[in-house]
Amino acid sequence: IADVKAGSDEGLELLGRSLVVQGWVRTLRAQSSVTFIEVNDGSCLSNMQCVLSSDTEGYDQVESGLVSTGASVWVQGIVVNSQGSKQKVELKVEKLILVGKSDNTFPIQKKRVTREFLRTKAHLRPRTNTFGAVARVRNALSYATHKFFQENGFVWISSPIITASDCEGAGEQFCVTTLVPSSRDHSNSPVAAIPTNGDGSIDWSQDFFGKPAFLTVSGQLNAETYATALSDVYTFGPTFRAENSNTSRHLAEFWMIEPELAFADLDDDMACATAYLQYVVQYILDNCQEDMDFFNTWIEKGIIQRLSNVAEKNFVQLTYTDAVDLLLQSNKKFEFPVKWGCDLQSEHERFITEEAFDGCPVIIRDYPKEIKAFYMRRNDDGKTVAAMDLLVPRVGELIGGSQREERLEYLEERLDDLKLNKESYWWYLDLRRYGSVPHAGFGLGFERLVQFATGIDNIRDAIPFPRAPGSAEF
Ligand code: 4AD
Ligand code: MG
Repeated sequence: IADVKAGSDEGLELLGRSLVVQGWVRTLRAQSSVTFIEVNDGSCLSNMQCVLSSDTEGYDQVESGLVSTGASVWVQGIVVNSQGSKQKVELKVEKLILVGKSDNTFPIQKKRVTREFLRTKAHLRPRTNTFGAVARVRNALSYATHKFFQENGFVWISSPIITASDCEGAGEQFCVTTLVPSSRDHSNSPVAAIPTNGDGSIDWSQDFFGKPAFLTVSGQLNAETYATALSDVYTFGPTFRAENSNTSRHLAEFWMIEPELAFADLDDDMACATAYLQYVVQYILDNCQEDMDFFNTWIEKGIIQRLSNVAEKNFVQLTYTDAVDLLLQSNKKFEFPVKWGCDLQSEHERFITEEAFDGCPVIIRDYPKEIKAFYMRRNDDGKTVAAMDLLVPRVGELIGGSQREERLEYLEERLDDLKLNKESYWWYLDLRRYGSVPHAGFGLGFERLVQFATGIDNIRDAIPFPRAPGSAEF
């Protein structure tokens, strides 16, 4: 249906041609002598209006009520001018085959349903306009991501999903274990099957990997190993966090894009983040017009203008210290009081992006080392690290990145300070022993990008099958 472009003048070029459409019935309207069915095949937002009459082969299935909302159909007909206002052309159907019937228990009938309700029907929600459009824009963003990095000479690295290291050191990892030999027998308590040492602690040597293993929270450390061999690389894959935050910006399973640049500092990193974001935003404005118009009308008024500004204007840059001053001078009453050294909360981020800088993306750099991860490069002041967060309105933190500590002695010192086990980072430290180079990178939460680009307000609607505390159905 996307190829036919029934809604635009281009559709007129197909007048008189015979076409086959395969898709799902969105609505059905029976009039005295003709029946209209709107068929959608997911290729675009538009439906093909199909006109059927008693001449149509297979019309008996319509008359008997078997063709209803949700059913799948194969229709063949001739493209003709449409009298309707929504489309230039329609299909005068010669033959209809009911491929799979539906009935009135189909949960997505024409009446508008809430996105909360649709979350309980994640298997059928792609049949709606909103979720179809989100899926197509998500796909376009993903394609544009690879296009951007490939065109700029980055090599895509598959980072592992199972890992022994905690990149962010925040203890938010899901544990992976096979120490459940009786797990197929649900009557047995799985815990009872885990071998323990004399003191009751788990005996990991008995496990598959011989030590604790986890689902990755970030592919960064692995990306660094390849960046210090192939120069610029990126990862794009699923990451997992067991943070128990039931918010509209957190998922337990989300996709992350993590470029890692060799022979690069924080300024190079921020320039890459800016160029990347502007590229993908421009890509969807150019290539997803119908879906973006839909979001502009139904999901977030003005989103097209907002994204156009992002693609064209320079982003704001300021240091953490200046951001704290700005918040203090605002005289706003925040729930979490601001002082130098505190982590910025979403209310602070919202003030900065939405009020102080009027919707423009803001990059905050040089954070206190205490609130950032161990691998970030120490600045000369000894108090801050070369970190950066990119904030956007409504979503908050879209990107977190840094220049990495490439000096062995400082990195070891930091691991000691944080009482992290140096032995387990032996391979990461090796990168600083053999041919260390200044390098930097960032991580962008892909679902937050989808939220930002579509205006969808809950992150659970930005991924096909959301995983969040208490929810892993489908
Ligand atoms: O700021 P974060 O924790 O940074 C890292 O993981 C670095 N290792 C990245 C790097 O430098 N290579 O996470 C990066 C981004 C955040 O800015 C946010 O967009 C997203 O990942 N993110 C989440 N998205 C959805 N649900 C969650 N629970 C998320 N946690 C982080
Ligand atoms: Mg972060």
